[in-house]
Amino acid sequence: MKNIFDAPFMREMEKTTENMYRLGWDERNGGNISYLLDENEVAEYIDLNKVIRTIPTGFNASELIGKIFIVTGTGKYFKNMKSDPESNLGVVRIGKDGTTAELLWGYKDGGRFTSEFPAHMMSHMARLKVDPDHRIVMHTHPTYTIAMNAVCPLDEKEFTKRLWKSNTEAIVVFPDGVGVLPCMVCGTNEIGKATAEKMAKFRLVVWTNHGIYGAGKNMDEVFGLIETVEKTAQIYMLTLGRVQNSIPDDVLKGLAKLWNLKPLEGVLD
Ligand code: 13P
Ligand code: ZN
Repeated sequence: MKNIFDAPFMREMEKTTENMYRLGWDERNGGNISYLLDENEVAEYIDLNKVIRTIPTGFNASELIGKIFIVTGTGKYFKNMKSDPESNLGVVRIGKDGTTAELLWGYKDGGRFTSEFPAHMMSHMARLKVDPDHRIVMHTHPTYTIAMNAVCPLDEKEFTKRLWKSNTEAIVVFPDGVGVLPCMVCGTNEIGKATAEKMAKFRLVVWTNHGIYGAGKNMDEVFGLIETVEKTAQIYMLTLGRVQNSIPDDVLKGLAKLWNLKPLEGVLD
């Protein structure tokens, strides 16, 4: 068996959580990540026949039976992931009943996966339907994104438009736009279902007064999506009420043409 602390997926989790903390997105235990792993790769590091304990999930994830994820633990601080991954992270497999998770590694101090497990697993199910290469769901609390969302209408087309018009990179990085959910109680199956419904269409979903979800094929893609929203939201907030030059619609259309993009319908004139 190879040493799991050398596994590429472990390194990616450590590096990403470290970066997210460094950027100020993940105060205290804020934020969580789940990463769908390749079974053959995990088998090089963990005995897949040895289940440490079984944890009920409280929802049905039958579409994910047998799938293995590395997931941040509930109440765990991103700033501590790298120094003690075995307490702060867990590798879990969705059990045969679809309503339990089998702990294969981690949560050493008796912990469990993030309280946002419903939103993560339901989002994985939704994204896998539209993108078979989908692997990662990332949730975080970036400051400017939350601030911008608080001063904008909840209309996701309007929110997307304000982002696109603030930074020419925005439409190029997320032509599919940003979904927006109203303020809801987090950590519930209800917010999980609502997030997954948005994820059928969007790779990015804002949770009003809370944070953002991103989904994609790899860490760089998802991190880059959220990073671009946050940078753009920062520009929006720094210029709020004083904008002299926002990006004209014909320039946005020109960018879409140049990069062969299909922008979210109903946003540009
Ligand atoms: P967890 O500590 O349970 O992951 O929760 C953090 C969070 O961001 C809740 O939305
Ligand atoms: Zn959160």
